Amino acid sequence: MRLKDKVAIVTGGSSGIGEQISLRFGQEGAKVAVVNRTAEAGEKVAKEIIAAGGTAKAFPCDVSDKGEVQAMVQGVVDAFGTVDILIGNAGFMVLKPLEELSEEDWDRTLDVNVKGNFLLAQAVAPIMKKKHYGKIVLTGSIAGSQGHGEGAAYCASKGGVILLMKALTSELAKEGINVNCFSPGATATPLNAEYRADPEILALFARNTPTGRDYIPPQDLAGAALFLASDDAHAVHGQNLVVDDGFSAVKPVG
Ligand SMILES: NC(=O)c1ccc[n+]([C@@H]2O[C@H](COP(=O)([O-])OP(=O)(O)OC[C@H]3O[C@@H](n4cnc5c(N)ncnc54)[C@H](OP(=O)(O)O)[C@@H]3O)[C@@H](O)[C@H]2O)c1
Repeated sequence: MRLKDKVAIVTGGSSGIGEQISLRFGQEGAKVAVVNRTAEAGEKVAKEIIAAGGTAKAFPCDVSDKGEVQAMVQGVVDAFGTVDILIGNAGFMVLKPLEELSEEDWDRTLDVNVKGNFLLAQAVAPIMKKKHYGKIVLTGSIAGSQGHGEGAAYCASKGGVILLMKALTSELAKEGINVNCFSPGATATPLNAEYRADPEILALFARNTPTGRDYIPPQDLAGAALFLASDDAHAVHGQNLVVDDGFSAVKPVG
């Protein structure tokens, strides 16, 4: 077991990529705090981990709210004794042409994707610093390094996540805390269900991805998070591990 007895907070742990990370971390021996806003969804994943012999508890929390984040982290410490791992994965995406993107869309995207991870890191860093041990892993996106149409808010937010990760590295590496991120390519989750219903989009992604797959199953993202959260990544700091089936490595064929 690669995370035996480690206490891991997984935000967005109730769905998609975060759900697979929660389940995998449970199998690897972590005590998993499943964090998202909807209590029932988080509890369902926590129950699944427990049914498989693991340890987990749901902690409903809006990661964009400082008070809720601080109370959630305190709740995790009260329940499990400490925090060893933070997976800052909760995310929100709105894709609209520039003129249709509202100020509210922009604020919500930046609040959840960037401010949320800042608040989470701020809340767990003192706990990790005290024991000179911690792993902070943020979920970026290939959209954080490449612009794409209708993605002004989302791309800006994910570029922000990647640079937040690097800035945190420069402050926290000497404290024994590894800060890294992994960047998924198109992954089949509820976040993009409406796009996956469009056969043209599926064909476009399949054509432009060297593996020939259109969307990656979310299970295939959990291993990257596990590596970065484990002691195998002891000397890995400030890195963005791209997990996109090679999509961003090759020239688009159109
Ligand atoms: N799917 C992709 O193709 C893809 C590609 C690149 C990067 N990503 C990134 O991967 C991460 C996970 O995305 P996903 O595709 O797995 O999406 P998803 O299935 O829609 O899951 C999003 C998760 O975030 C939670 N969440 C949303 N807003 C929140 C908030 N304010 N506070 C706390 N939790 C919140 C949701 O639960 P509640 O709604 O109950 O709060 C849910 O658990 C995101 O950061 C996303 O940007 C996804």
